[in-house]
Amino acid sequence: MSTTNSSTNTSNENNNIVWYVTGASKGLGLELVKKLVQDGFKVVATTRSKQLLIDNLGEHYNTDQVLPLVVDLLNEDSIKQSISDSLAKFAKIDIVVNNAGYGLFGNFENITDEQARTQFDVNVFGVLNVIRNVLPHLRNNKTTEHGPHIFNISSITGFNGAFPNAGIYGATKFAVDGISQYLQTDLKPFGIHVTSVLPGVFKTEFLDPKSLVVAKDIPDYPSVQGFIDKFSELFQERTKVGDPSKFAALLISISKEKNPPLTLPVGPDSFGLFEKRIESVQKDIAQFKDQTTSTNFSN
Ligand SMILES: NC(=O)c1ccc[n+]([C@@H]2O[C@H](COP(=O)([O-])OP(=O)(O)OC[C@H]3O[C@@H](n4cnc5c(N)ncnc54)[C@H](OP(=O)(O)O)[C@@H]3O)[C@@H](O)[C@H]2O)c1
Repeated sequence: MSTTNSSTNTSNENNNIVWYVTGASKGLGLELVKKLVQDGFKVVATTRSKQLLIDNLGEHYNTDQVLPLVVDLLNEDSIKQSISDSLAKFAKIDIVVNNAGYGLFGNFENITDEQARTQFDVNVFGVLNVIRNVLPHLRNNKTTEHGPHIFNISSITGFNGAFPNAGIYGATKFAVDGISQYLQTDLKPFGIHVTSVLPGVFKTEFLDPKSLVVAKDIPDYPSVQGFIDKFSELFQERTKVGDPSKFAALLISISKEKNPPLTLPVGPDSFGLFEKRIESVQKDIAQFKDQTTSTNFSN
């Protein structure tokens, strides 16, 4: 008779699944890597700061389960190298989490062209670079139980444009959500799942000056700093912000679904803003239905 308990069984199953997580040295990425290690998975954790990642992983760091890699998401050679290093170490990649990203706060007048382009480079083109280079492997990986899976971390700001001073950041997250929708269309024939993850506010290093970029205030608009201060206050209220360890547990549980969702709002704030945006779209399209549906050559 087997003496193995169910948690050991799960851990054994997980031991054969390899995750690739970008932006792993802090915040949601770090929490995810910690939880993955705890649950027995293998993880490639990419970062710009390997030592910080290893320090922050603390007791969760072990070389059997974690491959920490320095990756520049804007450099394709660096990503290619990380994928070949991952395959050399773990032989495969099953689940990719495009998590790395940062906030840029300001409005459409005061954010400079350079700030906007850099924001798109990291939050959008970095995601595309990973996808382009990992797909040749994922398409040929037939070993994952329900098929390989790509999680792209968007944001509620990428579904509901209700946040002042977050327009360009939000636009990058709308792009990430759009990429996920079209990826799903393209990748369905290969059995690869795609989930667009749209978190509400989670307590991470997101507002830290090392992460967040802030445009210079200009008169007539609400102060950007005032907006950040409000956010910081929110971070202090445990009932109003998300817990990154619960975010990590949710992603892991979704990865085990046979039919995972394309769209995943995370947190009660995100869920509520989803409902509001959907209601408002429904109202708009219903109001002008007669005009908008009478544009064909003939009826
Ligand atoms: N926290 C929230 O409320 C929230 C809500 C919605 C969506 N998100 C999204 O969740 C993801 C994780 O953010 P977080 O809240 O965990 O923030 P965080 O604590 O600041 O961590 C962000 C991670 O992204 C990476 N990153 C930041 N700037 C980068 C750059 N210029 N180039 C490459 N990598 C960069 C960093 O990776 P390394 O330093 O390790 O290289 C870091 O580990 C982001 O995509 C963010 O937009 C966060």
